Amino acid sequence: MVPHCPAEGPLERLPRAGVVIPAAGSGTRMGRVAKPFLELAGQPVLWRALRPFLGHPRVEGVVVALAPEWFRSPPAWLAALVGPRLSLVEGGETRTASVLAALEALPAGVDLVAVHDAARPLVDPDIFDRCLAAVGPGRGAVAGWPAVDTLKEVGEGGRILATPCRERFWHAQTPQVFPRDLLLSAYREAVREGRSGTDDAALVEEMGGEVVMVEGSPWNLKLTWPEDLRVAELLLKLKEGAG
Ligand code: CTP
Ligand code: MG
Repeated sequence: MVPHCPAEGPLERLPRAGVVIPAAGSGTRMGRVAKPFLELAGQPVLWRALRPFLGHPRVEGVVVALAPEWFRSPPAWLAALVGPRLSLVEGGETRTASVLAALEALPAGVDLVAVHDAARPLVDPDIFDRCLAAVGPGRGAVAGWPAVDTLKEVGEGGRILATPCRERFWHAQTPQVFPRDLLLSAYREAVREGRSGTDDAALVEEMGGEVVMVEGSPWNLKLTWPEDLRVAELLLKLKEGAG
């Protein structure tokens, strides 16, 4: 029998990933609560959002950006995780400022960066793996899901202005994975020019960078409104029941 020879020699290595978790928002739409520290089915939202990354073999280090009061006194479970693989930084006024602060604190030797919102606690490692498989030199990869509702552009007084072709529209989720240098330069340029985006890909796109969409999951819900907590609890029950 011919022995199995791996295509890559032992000295070749897979690119190492760092993970940035923006968790410094003020949860305005949730009723001004710290979403990352809400309990969801018995575990903090941030813990659930972190877990698939902390346990992933490709991940070298994770940096969590926290609001100043949480950075000054993090809960005991989070303080206990701080070490070579996890660090905390103080976030900023906007998501863009929080992500940049965390990016600057990533360990050296990281080739790729995944950004994942603390507000998405239902993420699973498969989604991250699909992003890792699609990212490449000069190219980012973003998890998302195709739009199912018909989309309308709405103007003053609720007047519909346009109905774009739905087939071409996806909802962008996180994780969003990029070569570290590409993302860092997109962020530095955006901050220098006073621009900010609601996601990371937008800043890379504005710089002319290539970003591809990969299959996320309809389960990868973002907690935004109070009702989302109930939905997330039900989804978790279904998921855990199936697993
Ligand atoms: N975020 C952050 N720093 C900010 C604002 C947002 O790190 N200054 C983080 C949030 O903690 C969240 C993610 O970015 O994990 C996505 O933001 P969003 O869902 O909008 O959360 P909030 O900004 O907290 O909520 P809201 O917009 O309702 O205030
Ligand atoms: Mg926000």
